[in-house]
Amino acid sequence: MIRRYVYGQPWPSFSCVQEICPEAEPMPYFHVQQAEKGLTFTTKLEKDEAIYGLGENVRGINKRGFVYRSYAVDDAPETESKSALYASHNFLVIKGGKRCFGVFFDDPSLFEFDLGFTDPEEATMTSRYGKLNVYLIENRSVIAVAKEFRQLTGRSYIPPKWAFGYIQSRFGDCSEEEINRTLDEYRKLGLPIDSFCLDIDCLDEYQNFTWNPVTFPNPEQFVREKQEEGIHLIPIVDAAIRKDDANEDYRRGKEKDVFCKGPGGEEFAAYVWPGLCAFPDYFQEKTRKWLGDRLQRYLRMGISGFWSDMNEPSVFAGQGGFRRAAELASATDENYSFLGFGRMMGIGQLLYDEKSDGKNFCHRIDDELAENPEVHNLYGGMMAFGMDEGFRMYNPDERFLLFSRSSCIGSHRVSGVWLGDNHSWWSHLLMNLKMMPSMNLCGYLFAGADIGGFNGDTTDELMLRWLELGIFFPLMRNHSCWGTRKQELYRFRYSEKMAKIVQIRYSLIPYLYSEFMKAALRDECMYRPLAFDYPDDPRAAGIEDQLLLGQECMIAPVYEQNAKGRMVYLPEDMLMIRMSSPDSMEEICLARGDHYIALETEQLAFFIRKNRAIPFAAPADKVKNIEESSIRMIGWLQEEYGYEYYNDDGISRQISQDNLKIIPCKP
Ligand code: GLC
Repeated sequence: MIRRYVYGQPWPSFSCVQEICPEAEPMPYFHVQQAEKGLTFTTKLEKDEAIYGLGENVRGINKRGFVYRSYAVDDAPETESKSALYASHNFLVIKGGKRCFGVFFDDPSLFEFDLGFTDPEEATMTSRYGKLNVYLIENRSVIAVAKEFRQLTGRSYIPPKWAFGYIQSRFGDCSEEEINRTLDEYRKLGLPIDSFCLDIDCLDEYQNFTWNPVTFPNPEQFVREKQEEGIHLIPIVDAAIRKDDANEDYRRGKEKDVFCKGPGGEEFAAYVWPGLCAFPDYFQEKTRKWLGDRLQRYLRMGISGFWSDMNEPSVFAGQGGFRRAAELASATDENYSFLGFGRMMGIGQLLYDEKSDGKNFCHRIDDELAENPEVHNLYGGMMAFGMDEGFRMYNPDERFLLFSRSSCIGSHRVSGVWLGDNHSWWSHLLMNLKMMPSMNLCGYLFAGADIGGFNGDTTDELMLRWLELGIFFPLMRNHSCWGTRKQELYRFRYSEKMAKIVQIRYSLIPYLYSEFMKAALRDECMYRPLAFDYPDDPRAAGIEDQLLLGQECMIAPVYEQNAKGRMVYLPEDMLMIRMSSPDSMEEICLARGDHYIALETEQLAFFIRKNRAIPFAAPADKVKNIEESSIRMIGWLQEEYGYEYYNDDGISRQISQDNLKIIPCKP
C-alpha cells in the first residue's frame, strides 16, 4: 500500500505516474520536525534492520552506517568519503524482522540521509527547504515494496536491443581513423562490437551538435559507412552550450528565450568545456523543443543513440570566481612565502564559488521562478525528457539509445545512466557491482560503469577482470579519460583473452535481454543482493560481493589483484559455469554452502539455480547477427522446466507480453 504525505508546497518533480491522494494523518514510523538545518524525518533503527536504495551513491548495498546527500554534483574521484555523486535517487527500503517499508522523499533540492552515522540506532533525513512529497510503501518484502515503488514511478527506460552490444569509447583521441583502426584490430581478434561513443574531442571546439573538421572531415559519409558495417555512432550532448553569436544553436536558443536567467533577469553564463556557456532551462517546454530540434540533424544522418553529460549541471568556473582567480594570478607584488604559494595553489578552488556563481540562476516552472538549488536535482532528468521528446518528434515508433550522467527518479522512464567518472581501481570494480541493485531499486535498469575505469591507468589484469563482470550488465561500455593508458582492448597483452570474454557476452545476450525486458515489463529488479531473495538466510544478508541476475543466475566476480579464485556462498544448490570463451564451458554441480572457486585470470564463473536453465547462443560479431537457432539451454535439471523467454524486434516501442514464449527444458 502506498501513502502520500505533503510538506509545504512542493515543486512539481515529474517522478510519479500515479496520482495518490495525500493523507491527513501524521506519517507513521517517522518523527517529523522543523530543525535548524531543515525539515527532519527521524526513525529509530532496530538492530537487525538494513537500509537499501539511494541509487547512485557510494559504499555498500546496505547503506546503513553512513551519511549520504542528494545534490547532483560533478566531483570525481568517487571515493568512500564522498556523500553525493552525479544523481539524486531518494528512495530507500528499511527491512528488518519486524518491519519492511519503503520511503521515497520526492524532494528536488538538497536532501541529506544520516543513516546511522550520528547515532547508529537512528536514521534522520533532512530536507533543506521542507517542500516535498513523501511516499510510504508498506509490504511484506523488499521485492514487493520495490515493485510498488516502480509502479508508482513508471516503467523503466528500454533501449534498442543493439545497445546491449559492446560499446567502445575514449575521451581524447577519437577520430575517423582511430575508429577504423580499432574496428580492424577487433575484426582480427574476433572481438564483437556494436557501437562507438563520440566524446567532446569529436566536436568542433567542444561545441554541441558539431563535428571536429580535422578528425571527422566527412561526418555524413562516415556515419553512413559505419551504418553499412553495422556500427552505431553515439555522439555526446553536453548540457550547456557555448555563448557565442557565431553559434547558430545558441542564436536560435536566444531568439526563443530558452536559457536560464540570473536573479537580475540577465542570461546566466559560466565556464564549461567550450568556454563561456549558457545553460538551457530544460524545465521549460520550449527549451526541450529547442533541444529536440537540435537533435534532428543527427537523427536524419541515421544516428540513433546519444549520451548526455555535464548535466548536474557541471560548472568548471563561474564568472565571478574566474575574475577573482585571474586577479590573484596576475598579482605581481605577491610575497611568495609559504602562504603566498598556498594561495596560488588554491586558485583552482576560487574558480567556482558556490555562493556567488553556482546558485545564481533560476528556472521557470509553470510561470513561477525557482532558484536552481530548490530544484537542482531535476536538471539532468529534465534534459533527458527533452532528448526523448526530440526522438519522438523524429520517429515516435522506434526506440533510441540514451544514457545520461545526471539523473533523478522520473527520468528513469526515458533514459539509462552510466555511473560517472570512476577510476581504474579494484575497489571501483566492486563498487560497480554494489551500485547495480540500488540503481534497479530506483528504476534504472539500463546502467553500467566505465569498464576498466575512466580515470587513472588500468592494467591488463584489472581490465580483464572488469570485463568478466561488465559482460553481465546491460550497458557494457569501455571508456577512459585523455592522458590515461589507452583502453581499446587490442592494445593489451591479454587482448585475445579479452576478445573471448566479450564473445561470452554475445552468447549471453538472449538471456540478458530477456531478463531485462521482463524486469522492465513487470517493474522488477534484474540485479538483487542475496538478501532480497533469501530473507530467511542470515548468511545471505551480509553478502555484498555477489548478485542475483534475473530469476535464474547469480554472479560472483573476482575483484582483487592477483587473486586466482574466490570464496562464493551458494544460498541453494547451483550449477557453476566456469569459462574463458563461449566454447570452453565447464559445468559443475555444487551444493548449498561455501565454496572456493578457482578462477585463472581469463576465467569467469556464474551460477544457475538448480532446476532452472538459461538460453545461451553461439557467439556473434553483432547483436543483430545472434542466431536464434543457435540457442541451447544450459542448466542442472532434475525436473522439467520451462524458461520464459522474451524476444522482439529490438527496436519497436510496442512492447508486449505476446513476445514471451516458454522454452521447455527436460532433465
Ligand atoms: C565528463 C564525463 C566523461 C567524458 C568527459 C569529456 O568527465 O563524465 O565521461 O569523457 O566529460 O566529455
